[in-house]
This record gives sequence, C-alpha cells and structure tokens, in this order.
Amino acid sequence: MSKRPLNVGLVGGGKGAFIVQPHQKAIHFDGTRRVTAAALFPDPKVALEEAANWPYPIKGYGSYDEMIAGNASLPDDQKLDYVVIVTPNHVHYDPAMKAIKAGIAVFCEKPLCLNLKQANDIVKTVRKHNVPFGVAHTYLGHWTTRVSRYIIRAGLLGEVRWVDSSYLQGWLATKLEATGQMQAAWRTNPKLAGGSGCGGDIGTHALMQLRYVTGLDVTKVSAQLEPFVEGRPLDAHFTVYCQLSNGGKALVRASQISIGHKNDLALEVAGTKGTLRWRQEEPESVTIHLANQPDRVYWRGAVTPGDGFLPKDAPADLMAEPTIPSGHPEAFHDAYARLHRCFEADVRKWKAGEAFQSDGSKYANVEDGWTGIAFIETSVKSSQKKGAWTAMPKSI
Ligand SMILES: NC(=O)c1ccc[n+]([C@@H]2O[C@H](COP(=O)([O-])OP(=O)(O)OC[C@H]3O[C@@H](n4cnc5c(N)ncnc54)[C@H](O)[C@@H]3O)[C@@H](O)[C@H]2O)c1
Repeated sequence: MSKRPLNVGLVGGGKGAFIVQPHQKAIHFDGTRRVTAAALFPDPKVALEEAANWPYPIKGYGSYDEMIAGNASLPDDQKLDYVVIVTPNHVHYDPAMKAIKAGIAVFCEKPLCLNLKQANDIVKTVRKHNVPFGVAHTYLGHWTTRVSRYIIRAGLLGEVRWVDSSYLQGWLATKLEATGQMQAAWRTNPKLAGGSGCGGDIGTHALMQLRYVTGLDVTKVSAQLEPFVEGRPLDAHFTVYCQLSNGGKALVRASQISIGHKNDLALEVAGTKGTLRWRQEEPESVTIHLANQPDRVYWRGAVTPGDGFLPKDAPADLMAEPTIPSGHPEAFHDAYARLHRCFEADVRKWKAGEAFQSDGSKYANVEDGWTGIAFIETSVKSSQKKGAWTAMPKSI
C-alpha cells in the first residue's frame, strides 16, 4: 500500500500574505505532502473564515495555540507531521517553541527569530526534543546552488580567497510602510522584524548562500547599516565586510533601496584556480571562469562528469537529481519544493524511529538559523561602533 501523504499545518498565511503561496505549492508538489490544517490569521474569526475559503478543504483553527495543543488528541492519520511557520519574524519564536515541545517537526521561515536569546532557546529545545527543524533559506533548493557547493567544497576552484554575496532589491526605496502596505509595515518595525531590517530580511539569505556553498564561516565583521529612507528606524542598506574562517575575505551586502533590482541574489566565489558566478534571477546555470580558458556555463540537467573540469566521480545522486530536462526551466517554486522534499525525508525517518540527518546539507537547519541571527546582531553592534571589527559569537 502506498504511504499516506504527510499532514502539514500552516502558521500564518491569510489575507493576502506572500510567502505562504510558494510554500503551499511546494508542499503539494510531489503528492507526498499536503496542507491539512492552518491557523492563518491573528484574529480567530478571520483565521476561521480564511480557512473556510481556502482553495481546497483544510481544518481551520482560530489560533496556532489551538492547532498545536489539539494535535495530540487527533487520530493518527490526522495528526500533523510538521508545521510551516510563515508569519512575520516576531511570530516565529512562540509557535516554533510550542510545536517543538509538542513533538511536531517545524519548517520555519527565516530569519529564525528576533534575537540571539530566542535563537539560543530554540536550538537548545530542538536538541532536547530531537525534532526535525528546517529554516526556509529558499535558494539552497536550486540545483545550481547544490552543484556550486560541490564544485567549491571539492576544491575544484582551489582555496577560496574572496566571496561577494549580495541580495539587492528596490521595493523599499520609498516610505512604502506609510501607505500601510502589509509586507513593508512589519519589515520596517524593529519590534516585529528584529534588530536589522534589510539585513535580517535578505542579508541572511546572502550569508546562508555563502556558507552553504563554501563551507566557510564568518568570524569577524565590519558593518555599515543605513536606513537611507527618512524616518525609517531600521536599515534599508546593509554592507558587511567579513573575515572568513579560512583567512579569506567576503562582502555580504543587501539593499532594499537599489531601484531596478528585484530579487537579485548573486554569489561570486573567487578561488586560487578560478571563479564561480551564480544569480538567482537566472537560476538554471552557473558559470565557471578558469584562467586562460573559455568560460564554462553549466546548465541544470546538462552536465557530464569527466568533462575536463568536473571529475568522473562527481556524486551520482547530485547529477541524477534534476527530474525535468534542461531547457524546461526550474525556478523559485521548484527550489522550495526541493527543500520540502528533503525535509519530508527527515520527517519520515524520524517518525519511523530512525536516525535523521538534519545536518544542513539539504536545507538550512536550526544551527544555520542561529548563525543568521548571530550575524545580524554582530553586524548591528559593529555598525553602532562605526564599522569596528567585531567578532561573531562562538557557535552554540
Ligand atoms: N524564504 C524567502 O524567500 C522568504 C520570502 C518572503 C518572506 N519570507 C519570510 O516569511 C515570513 C512571512 O513573510 P511574508 O512576506 O509572507 O509576510 P506577510 O505579511 O505577507 O504574511 C504574514 C502572515 O502571517 C499572519 N500572521 C501574523 N501574525 C499571526 C498570528 N499570530 N497567527 C497567525 N497568523 C499570523 C498574517 O496575518 C499574514 O497572513 C517572514 O518571516 C519573512 O521574513 C521569506
């Protein structure tokens, strides 16, 4: 008999919310997971109305407290296998902690939470309860990110000297929050977004992309955070010069005032033998530059190990992973689906009582989420000291 699809509960996502949409598509992508329940809005009445109007039948709850607390008493085939937290940053900690303590796996949007104190609690609680926990760093789900990780970590471009990781947007170049626009309103409010606006929102993606592909950590930062928009209490422009754990250097920057840039996440890794370049707005290919050689452009699904650059023994599972031929483009939703697929595999192992490996190789784990928050707090401190070099806290 085929296995039943995993039951997924949503925390947040009603009334014109943004990131719930790609998540719910990605959850249903393979037919092996489905959304069965949701607490979609802070007001219980609206939450229930929104659930009743959901495009397919789900069980609505008036609050995530009810959804999480009620889970244990449901029949086994209706119990939630994991929850996806898609609320603004200030509503990550509480539902995450409650779900972990109730023994429900959690896939949480980034940034993990508001501050390092909360992040410490979440990491400790995940470890104590041994529950799968993922952080939705979407862009790790692109196959080209996976192959970039292999290329750099296998040393095919030599020792990493320099990384330029940037995420540029232009949509907050004016005081959009004054119009009441929902996504702008909470992102520019320190109580709801955390200590950094642009850095927490998209700088954490740029950091994660660097760490995931290179395997290097940031050890010290010199940061300049600027609001630029008058009256905005948080940065809209985030520039951080970084010392890397191998002695190399990096620039991690993010901007929401760079008019014309949409979701321009770009990674450039310069090693002693060559450079790798990747952009999420064109996520189907990655470019390799080797000195005195023609450029190589690797397209997802059209890569042959043993081609003079990629070794013959490049991991077969990585090479086999793309399921649709190149030229039929994969993008944002496929990246999310790949993360949910990998998270599902861990949840199924965990439910079967087997060891699961939430080691950060397939999706960002709770420690990665912690590092994002540590990076933000350290960058804020450095910027307050006019860019003074400031050490990252020791890993938890
Ligand atoms: N990984 C990515 O690429 C990516 C992209 C965008 C946003 N995000 C993250 O996703 C999260 C949500 O961002 P968004 O842009 O979708 O926000 P949004 O404002 O569009 O949606 C947030 C939703 O949460 C609901 N909500 C708020 N408090 C709630 C509560 N107590 N109970 C139930 N629902 C509640 C709101 O009503 C709304 O439906 C943020 O943490 C953001 O940083 C990640």
